[in-house]
Amino acid sequence: MAQLKEKIDTIKKAFQEALSKVQTLAELDQLRTTYVGKKGLIPALMKELKDLSVDDKKVFGPLINTLKAETQTILDDAKQTIINKQAESKIKKQEHFDITAYKTNVEQGHQHPYSQITEEIEDIFLSMGYEILDGPELETDFHNFTALNIPEDHPARDMYDTFWTDRLNMLLRTHTSPVQIRAMKEKKLPIAAVVPGRVFRHEATDASHDFMFLQCEGFYIDKNVNLSHLFATAQTFLKTLFKKEKLDIRIRPGFFPFVEPGIEIDMRCPFCQDGCSVCKKTTWMEIFPGGLIHPNVLTACGIDPNEYSGFAFGFGLSRLAMLKYGIRDIRHFYSGKLKFLEQF
Ligand code: DAH
Repeated sequence: MAQLKEKIDTIKKAFQEALSKVQTLAELDQLRTTYVGKKGLIPALMKELKDLSVDDKKVFGPLINTLKAETQTILDDAKQTIINKQAESKIKKQEHFDITAYKTNVEQGHQHPYSQITEEIEDIFLSMGYEILDGPELETDFHNFTALNIPEDHPARDMYDTFWTDRLNMLLRTHTSPVQIRAMKEKKLPIAAVVPGRVFRHEATDASHDFMFLQCEGFYIDKNVNLSHLFATAQTFLKTLFKKEKLDIRIRPGFFPFVEPGIEIDMRCPFCQDGCSVCKKTTWMEIFPGGLIHPNVLTACGIDPNEYSGFAFGFGLSRLAMLKYGIRDIRHFYSGKLKFLEQF
């Protein structure tokens, strides 16, 4: 009998000690199995009752039952305490979650070189008072060709290898010039705007040609606009972009149906002194085509060419990016190669 009393005390003590070490719900479950589970220590005590006298049974029976009930209550309380603690620490973690915290072992991404140069170009033109416009990449024949003085049977259409769609008169724009038309029809004069964006050409790809690349259109329409405005704008833009005080450029006549006169601005090749494969041994690079907007284009947009004039240009943004960063293959841009992208 004394033995049983001793056992009960030992179990109580051992339980208290084990409980004080419990941290997790799994550990608590283990404790429950050990003490009050079917084959646990406390139910095992019950089995020992059968060897006791009736009087002792009356004493120890309720004692063991109470021990079992109390132990169960203690375990339930402990479970609730652990659950509460876990919830509290979760909330605390969320409260102190710092989304700006720097984690050294995580690789950081950055803007694509196209996005970087586009923003740089936009900033330069914004500083000159231009606005930035956008237009659809899926264009109509009218905006991409007809309104730009390239009627259906005009040979200049051959210059553009067009991706036609199966929707009547719809195409992937071959240049950013159609946004000129949209702007002239929708906006009040004067307008000064640039339009960086993607254009598409159905042609074989090589180091300097891709079927999708970036252009930037620009135009200024007001009273008394002339070629000197275009030259000054081009010069300011190129000097700022290439961070050069003096820039070696030359201006030549060029043909584009939507301008008259049309010009080409060339820049000295930044890769060589006396001719290389990039400049095709000429030491000059064609970079900035433009001109005065053709009266037919102004008229197509409802603007009186006797009252207003304007200049327009449309340079290859991809090409400028290649020159600025020294990239010799245009296809790198959309290759998705990290080795290439990580350099910017
Ligand atoms: N749209 C022409 C092209 O894709 C580029 C261009 C030339 C745009 C002269 C102009 C311009 O606005 O005046 O080849």
